[in-house]
Formats: sequence, structure tokens, C-alpha cells
Amino acid sequence: MSITVASLLLSAALLLSPTQTPLVIAHRGASGELPEHTLAAYARAIAQGADYIEPDLVMTKDGYLIARHENEIGGTTDVAQKFLERKSVRLIDGQYIEGWFSEDFTLSEIRSLRARERLPFRSQAQNGQFRVPTFDEVIQLVQAQSKAQNRTIGIYPETKHASYFRSIALPLEPALLQTLQRYGLNHKDAPVYIQSFEVSNLQALRTQTSVRLVQLIEESGMPADQMLLAPGEDMLSYSSMITPAGLNQVRSYADGIGPYKRLILPDAGGRLMSPTNLVRDAHAVGLQVHPWTFRSDETYLHENHFGDPSAEYAAFFDAGVDGVFSDFTAHAVAARKAWLAQRDAAAQP
Ligand code: G3P
Repeated sequence: MSITVASLLLSAALLLSPTQTPLVIAHRGASGELPEHTLAAYARAIAQGADYIEPDLVMTKDGYLIARHENEIGGTTDVAQKFLERKSVRLIDGQYIEGWFSEDFTLSEIRSLRARERLPFRSQAQNGQFRVPTFDEVIQLVQAQSKAQNRTIGIYPETKHASYFRSIALPLEPALLQTLQRYGLNHKDAPVYIQSFEVSNLQALRTQTSVRLVQLIEESGMPADQMLLAPGEDMLSYSSMITPAGLNQVRSYADGIGPYKRLILPDAGGRLMSPTNLVRDAHAVGLQVHPWTFRSDETYLHENHFGDPSAEYAAFFDAGVDGVFSDFTAHAVAARKAWLAQRDAAAQP
């Protein structure tokens, strides 16, 4: 049997990873192709083979969870044209934000809005066509598609600005758990991961549900809820979370981490560096690793160091990640297929 460097590397990657096949998580749906967080974007991602779709969750004035990346909805809907007078300024997670906020609108008003593409360099052709979906509608789509395709499609909801929503008496988590419960998804084997950039809401959720939880990790800084702790209380910063001790702490309430991808393959002054120990250290304490965000737009490819989306996915799969958040599901699925074929060929005697 001939052993090549490539096969050794692939074997090492397998040892690093507790899962055989990395997940493709459709980040905001097939958001590279259609306006994000619309049923059309989720449906396209499912048709392209996503394992999970990712709805970010915010709340309406009357307590409904809707899928938007931000509670400021001016950037992704036509709210400015329809409700100009509702523009206001809010202090959210330490920053003053001007715009239109989900918590000022009833679900019925939200239903009158239409989604718009957020990024100027992506197609604007579908603007005005799609509604803002509720979390219920997202789950209904996923369950119908799972049945139609005879495969399990998961959901990966993110609680957005959790402390802020709690501070205005619209906490996200009770509604999230009640909704999961209604659809038979509030248990440890459900195809669900709940993610948050905050710590305390995940810690509280750990005592309330056995659904898998994922701690999101920024490159630096402090989670919004940790900034609110009293002086002297133990704060968990993003940089402390990625140390072995920090990962152990995260493991006490979460099942995985969702790190910014440069925490795995760092960039130093424009040069791509070797993988850090983050995947290995996370796996050592039993945490899955799902980095973000993989994007195929020219704008982002210039900074991904590979110039080619499939090479970037392969580098992260080689590094042992358990899944990737991608705006371009079709590219991620194709890259995974090629990577798995190469891995299997290398494993042949
Ligand atoms: O949700 C995983 C990761 O993408 C976090 O970023 O942009 O979705 O909040 P975002």
C-alpha cells in the first residue's frame, strides 16, 4: 500500500473530526442568490442539498418570531417606503442604530413588507417579491421539504440581540422553545442547533432544553451580555473562549462552537497561516466546530486566499471542521462532494 502525504493529511483530518461528512449550513438560505431570510432563499438552499438552513430570529411588537438578521429591518425590506414615519434611533448592544425596528411593528404590518437584497453587488432582480417569513413558516417549509425529499433537513436558528430583546420585555427564548415544542423539535435528537453570540442565554437554555446549542465566536471582543455583568463577575470574552480552559467552560453549556473562520485559518497581514489548534482543542472536549461565513462573490473571494471557493472549502474540511456556514449552498455541496471523493480514494488500499 502506498501512503501519500495527501492521504496522511486526510487521515489526520479524520482523526480530528468526530463526523464523517461535514454539514452544509445554508447561511440565511441561499443568500448568495436570493434575498436573505426569505422562504424562496431557504427553498433554493434545500433544493441544492443543504443539510441545515439558518434563520436568524428577531421579534415583532406582538411577540412573533420572524426571520431577519437584524431587528433593524430597513436594510433588507421596503419598510422605508411604507412606514417612513416610524424611523427611530435605538441603543442596541452598546451602539446607537438608526432605522426601522422589528419590535415597532405588528406581524400584520411585517406581512405587508417585501424583502430586498442587502448587498449592492448581488442581484437586485428579486427585490419586492418575497415576504418576511415567521419562524413557524420556516419550520413548516423545512418539514414539508423533508417529507418531499425523503431526507432530514435541519434548522439552525440564531437568537439575535438576545439581551436587548429581554430588556424590552420581548425575550426570544421562550417563544423559540414553545415553537420548537409545537413542531416536535424540542429534544436532543431533533435536527436543530440553537446558536447565539451571547453566553447567558445559552447557559439559561441549557437548563430548559436538550436541543443542541452552539456558541458563536467573533474574532475578538466581548459578547453583548457579558458587557452587562457587574464588575467582579467572571466575564467570558471571545478570545478566552478559544483557549482550552475557555472551550471547557463553553462545553458546560454548549455542544458546539461557531467561530469566525479566521480563528481556524488565520490571516496575518494578508498571508494565510497554518491552521490553529482550535478544531483539535474543541474536539478534545467534545465540541463540534462550524465556522462562518463562506461566500463565492468576487468581493469576498479576493480575501479568501484561495481565489476559488472549492479550494477554500477543502482547506477547512482538511482542518477537520464539522460543518460550514455558506451563502452559496450549491458551491459548498459540490466542494464537499469533491473532497469526500478524494478522501475516499486516498483511503483505498
Ligand atoms: O450564524 C453563524 C454566523 O454566520 C454568524 O454570523 O452573520 O449569521 O450573524 P451571522
